[in-house]
Amino acid sequence: MQDAQPTVLFVDDEPGILKSLRRLFMDEEWTILLADSGLAGLEILAAEQVDLVVSDVRMPGMDGVEFLSRVKERFPGVVRVFLSGYAEKESVATALAEGYALQIIPKPWIDDELREIIKNALNQNTDLNSDLDNLSCIIDSLANLPPLPEIYLELKGCMADRTNFTLDHVVDIIRRDMALSADLLHWANSALFGQRRKVDTVKRAVMLLGIDIIESLVLSESISRALSTLSARSSSFDAPGLQRHSMSCAILSRLIISSTQDNAKFADQVFIAGLLHDIGLLAVASLFNEQYARIDELIRHKKQSLVDAEWQILQTSHAEIGALLSERWSLPPFLVNVIRNHHEPLKALQDRELTIIVSAADLLASRFGYGVDYEQQEPEFTQELLDYLQLTPQRLEQLRQGLEDNLGVNEPQ
Ligand SMILES: [Fe+2]
Ligand SMILES: [Fe+2]
Repeated sequence: MQDAQPTVLFVDDEPGILKSLRRLFMDEEWTILLADSGLAGLEILAAEQVDLVVSDVRMPGMDGVEFLSRVKERFPGVVRVFLSGYAEKESVATALAEGYALQIIPKPWIDDELREIIKNALNQNTDLNSDLDNLSCIIDSLANLPPLPEIYLELKGCMADRTNFTLDHVVDIIRRDMALSADLLHWANSALFGQRRKVDTVKRAVMLLGIDIIESLVLSESISRALSTLSARSSSFDAPGLQRHSMSCAILSRLIISSTQDNAKFADQVFIAGLLHDIGLLAVASLFNEQYARIDELIRHKKQSLVDAEWQILQTSHAEIGALLSERWSLPPFLVNVIRNHHEPLKALQDRELTIIVSAADLLASRFGYGVDYEQQEPEFTQELLDYLQLTPQRLEQLRQGLEDNLGVNEPQ
């Protein structure tokens, strides 16, 4: 967080929304400014030092897309975020594609999530100011990313619309995508989700896995599809290897906690975070093709660790790039935190236990032969982590066996 109190500007034409935002954040140490139109917002920006703008999309006169495009042009150091309902998805897709907004907060929002997203966005602003050239170049590259595929946005929109939400609607959306349907059936038949009888319909798979897991599997698949549309991925990048590694990490994360606690929501969260912890690697290989080749060279020939090589070439890491990407796609704050800290879990200030578990699973996946060969961690740190989780040799052997059993069902086809 910045030394001086950060300033957040909310722009919305509905007085009721502005009022509830002010009330929601009155205990935070932020200066809150409010504007009821894009023009009023621009006037405030010209007069005040603002760190973050959160804008509505649909407003009379100057709409949110035009407003944020002007903010980008005139005040490029200000972080820009949309507050948007599902009905505005086309305007939002344009704004993301053009880099006017760096992320979206869905409306209606959940108070704690909104607070967390704003805190992360303010940190992003601090980072941006501390190393402006490099990070603004990375953020510009992220702005060139394609939006997530329609199926994910459709699923998310359908689930956000709680009044009209039905399971059949979710099933219909998934059934239209053969590859996704097959993927969900594979997971539903995995011992990991406690199923003994064969699951052979998408509807039963959806009921068994639950909405959070379904959403994360669709998201993971959507991210690889979105990134695979970029033309030049480095030839030395092992995409199937990363997919296998991510699945292993998800499985191991869930197995690690299954013996220590019986909390279904937490079990789902560690699985999701394990699956997505390395999305930054995919982004580095897809967006920074030339730099990736130099990182690969340092790892293979100079025997540097991945994180050291990334710092040398990009002055940041795949963990930070993954976190920026997940903020841009408005993924839940717990995911942003785990992705950002998964190589330094003991330093995590938020979602610490979740981060430690995923980080241990990441390490164990590599030990059990499902690593990405360039991702290594420090040996001392490894022992500290294993001790923290009380992973005895017998427990490690059970985890290795559990991984083999579950991964057998889910080998990439
Ligand atoms: Fe990683
Ligand atoms: Fe990893």
